[in-house]
Amino acid sequence: MTASIPTLEDLEGELGGLAGKRILVRTDFNVPLDEHGGITDDFRIRAALPTLQWLTARGASVVTASHLGRPHGKPDPKYSIEPVRRRLAELAPGIELLENLRYDAGEEGNSPEFTAQLVAGIDGYVNDAFGASHRAHASVVGPPRFVPSAMGRLLQREVEVLLGLRTSPKRPFIAVLGGAKISDKLGVVEALLDVVDGLVIGGAMAFTFFAAKGLPIGDSLCEPDQVDACARLLEAATKPMHLPTDITGLDADGQFATWGTRLPDGAKGLDIGPGSAAEFADIIAEARTIFWNGPMGMFEDERFAAGTRTVAEAVAAAKGFTVVGGGDSAAALAEFGLDDDVDHVSTGGGASLELLELGDLPGLAALREGRNQ
Ligand code: 3PG
Ligand code: MG
Repeated sequence: MTASIPTLEDLEGELGGLAGKRILVRTDFNVPLDEHGGITDDFRIRAALPTLQWLTARGASVVTASHLGRPHGKPDPKYSIEPVRRRLAELAPGIELLENLRYDAGEEGNSPEFTAQLVAGIDGYVNDAFGASHRAHASVVGPPRFVPSAMGRLLQREVEVLLGLRTSPKRPFIAVLGGAKISDKLGVVEALLDVVDGLVIGGAMAFTFFAAKGLPIGDSLCEPDQVDACARLLEAATKPMHLPTDITGLDADGQFATWGTRLPDGAKGLDIGPGSAAEFADIIAEARTIFWNGPMGMFEDERFAAGTRTVAEAVAAAKGFTVVGGGDSAAALAEFGLDDDVDHVSTGGGASLELLELGDLPGLAALREGRNQ
């Protein structure tokens, strides 16, 4: 799966050693920031350290580059890379970090001029930005066309773990999906249904499935334009699809309430109920491979964190091989202090889903093609 993509060792060989070589490393340092610009979770910075340390240990001079937020092609002090630069200097002194790549419209526009600017004076390129490798942006797909290039350790491990789920999962393989929108995940649900032994669905996206079954959902979040697609999925699925059997939320008077699967007028479902959480935990405990992406409810509000917490605890306690897709589910795990109890926490949100769905990413294709493009 990664066999056709050059490794760090291949790059070292191609450059005849790394001592004194200037290596550009595309990292995904798109970390969450608080309102004062402080980093609230440096997981993505720490995840790049094995690659950075491997390169510097061989005498390379390392220049890292990342996007931060979505400043849309122009400088915006809100997305200054400075806090990341300070944290990186603490974790890996002596490593350069360019300014936020998305300050330049050439990054998202994948402009040849911006790529040329990035590779000027560079001897080799490493992509370790798994979380951004689904973006065909200049810093992700451009450099491999011009300089010897390789995947970093993080990118390699992410791809091996996630593609391993598609090709050789230990069975039963259960995927647990949550989050607000099914529209973001329809493709991955379809792809997963081909390889899993069962699919568990929570989060607000469950209400679009409820609507597809003709169940009343009150004022819960729903994507009306996805109801038909959900109905088709439910009808065509050859694997069990487990939807919640109870729901908690706020009733029409704004009071905490628990229902079955028929929500009264004015009710807003905000979490899976305790029965569903217990049932999902049993399914997770019995699986030998578990992939989890997306919270079960609005876990930022303690009243509606129970479903996500129960699922997180079940994933952490599972004997099976456990993989958690990035973004909100990784944040939830960290918040519950369970991130060390999972076999692989992906640094990619969208990237992990796209890789599971399509089996490839633009950033991987660029490394595979190299200077033949
Ligand atoms: C992420 O946070 O998922 C990656 O860094 C990609 O960011 P993007 O969705 O803004 O492209
Ligand atoms: Mg385990």
